[in-house]
Amino acid sequence: MTPAGGSAMTGEVRIREAERRDLEALAALWLEFMEFHASRDADLAVCDGAEGHWKKWAAGKMESRDSVVAAAERNGRTVGYAVATIKERSPVFKRRRYGEIMETAVTADARGGGIGSRLYDFVMSWLKRKDVDWAWLEVAAKNETAGEFWERKGFRPFLETHQRDI
Ligand SMILES: CC(C)(COP(=O)(O)OP(=O)(O)OC[C@H]1O[C@@H](n2cnc3c(N)ncnc32)[C@H](O)[C@@H]1OP(=O)(O)O)[C@@H](O)C(=O)NCCC(=O)NCCS
Repeated sequence: MTPAGGSAMTGEVRIREAERRDLEALAALWLEFMEFHASRDADLAVCDGAEGHWKKWAAGKMESRDSVVAAAERNGRTVGYAVATIKERSPVFKRRRYGEIMETAVTADARGGGIGSRLYDFVMSWLKRKDVDWAWLEVAAKNETAGEFWERKGFRPFLETHQRDI
């Protein structure tokens, strides 16, 4: 494991807010991320044309003041990204406002070098600057890699989604 500040083996990593010009590269990472999930659970497979839907969704997140899209760049190549957004729960709850970390992915050949951690630090700092003091995320039950990552970041299981065919 290389230090979280960069990767001596493969070049410096820069984390920055993504812009519209990044959408193509981010969509390619998103597709890789979704294929990773679909290979573990067919109910996470995406439809034809999904990339176009995702690009519209991501562009909206880039434009929203309540969301952030972070991109990780190494040697001019986009190697990871993360999306977080601020949400509010129903008024019935005492604690309502939270930040949802919606997507975090690092391309396969760049994993294990601290890039996921740096994307995480970037979106958490952004949430803190927005006075958000609680963070949530969903993890696919069959994603064997992510549980450990989030556990190391201090997340504990909270709500679980259960499903079945009818
Ligand atoms: C999860 C993911 C974003 C982590 O990114 P990364 O750059 O590989 O993570 P880092 O190198 O910053 O690792 C951070 C910590 O998590 C641990 N970790 C990361 N991947 C791990 C794995 N597959 N198994 C066990 N621990 C892992 C590291 O050991 C490290 O621990 P440390 O801080 O105690 O040294 C990346 O593996 C990924 O994109 N996976 C596929 C998509 C995905 O699952 N995304 C999350 C969806 S919720």
